[in-house]
Amino acid sequence: MAEENHQKSALFSPLTLRGATFKNRIVISPMCTYSAEEGIADEWHLAHLGQFALGGAAAIFTEAAAVEPRGRITHGDLGIWSADHAAALKPVTSFLSRQGALPAIQIAHAGRKASMQRPWHGNGPMDAGDAARGEMPWDIVAPSAEPVKDGWLMPNELTVEEIQGIQEKFATAAGHAHDAGFEVLEIHSAHGYLAHSFLSPTSNQRNDAYGGDRAGRMRFSLAIAEKVRAVWPENKPLFVRISSVDSDGVTEGWQLDDSVALAGELKMRGVDVVDCSSSGISGTATAAQGKLPLGFRTAYSSRIGTEADITTMVVGLVLHAAQAEQIIGDRLADLVAIGREALFDPYWARHAAYELGADPRFGDWPMQYGWWLERREPLVRELRDG
Ligand SMILES: Cc1cc2nc3c(=O)[nH]c(=O)nc-3n(C[C@H](O)[C@H](O)[C@H](O)COP(=O)(O)O)c2cc1C
Repeated sequence: MAEENHQKSALFSPLTLRGATFKNRIVISPMCTYSAEEGIADEWHLAHLGQFALGGAAAIFTEAAAVEPRGRITHGDLGIWSADHAAALKPVTSFLSRQGALPAIQIAHAGRKASMQRPWHGNGPMDAGDAARGEMPWDIVAPSAEPVKDGWLMPNELTVEEIQGIQEKFATAAGHAHDAGFEVLEIHSAHGYLAHSFLSPTSNQRNDAYGGDRAGRMRFSLAIAEKVRAVWPENKPLFVRISSVDSDGVTEGWQLDDSVALAGELKMRGVDVVDCSSSGISGTATAAQGKLPLGFRTAYSSRIGTEADITTMVVGLVLHAAQAEQIIGDRLADLVAIGREALFDPYWARHAAYELGADPRFGDWPMQYGWWLERREPLVRELRDG
């Protein structure tokens, strides 16, 4: 009888990529909490990420984990540049797996957007207030000696040898991520951080093999994908997050046609999913206050998915269950990443399943909760419906 009440839902249909099965299409987006010491995870990261596993998402991304210390955005970023960093993340991967969620990690280098303040300290270059807390800026690197904007730190232009060294650090980080027990790995190539700053003609003024035309500007991201894929196990999916366009609504710089081309090249290098974000090349990607429509990036994910024939994830203002159901049902993306809405409601996935009729009797909840909620349901319904 209970089974008859379950509605078919696209959002709650599974998706298998290589050896990993996503039990539904809901993924928790990488979100920095800037709460690590020297990049090492602690109980905060376990509780923070653990709540999303209890909350029913199929895969849960850590925040951007830096591949080297100077690639951190702030002093509080997570890192994955050593075996100690991997060991500290093991309790997280173990808990997520035991709750039926895929543990996922985003690996990153902040490039010219490194050495910043935590958002709540100002979200800009470090200043006297940070120095008073004992947090000093460090030297940053980029494809070209071009700051994000006036008043920001001037990056050092990377040599070809240094560029290749950073590519190796991504591969080493992927090895540590595997040792830590992660099942899904994402390379951060969005939001104005190092890899994105190589892609964009606005931040990459090089005229060697890593700059110039689109093929040159894509070389860094593609080399990382290749090197990571070579060490990341064959049965584990690889995602790349991109800024589908440099800035939403601006026709200069990296454009959607470029992203379609990049996605095709990534696919040829064994990348399974393109995670479609946007913007961030010249400032914040998320904290901007401009008006944006619901799910505004589905225009990007649907085109990239169709034209590059690759699995996509879309992120940005996916707020409602019915909205997410439509995104997946209409094949505008294959996965939805939920960011701030999961901070508001870590049980977003379970509530969506209830609302869509995919889990009306709390059978998918942890039994410690579901057993009680199922028995409470008739009472609540009566109170609600009168
Ligand atoms: C607190 C916070 C931290 C974030 N950190 C990251 C990050 O580490 N890596 C990343 O790719 N995006 C990061 N983002 C962007 C989110 O992953 C997501 O793309 C963005 O919040 C838009 O989705 P939303 O509208 O569902 O929040 C962060 C966003 C927030 C709010």
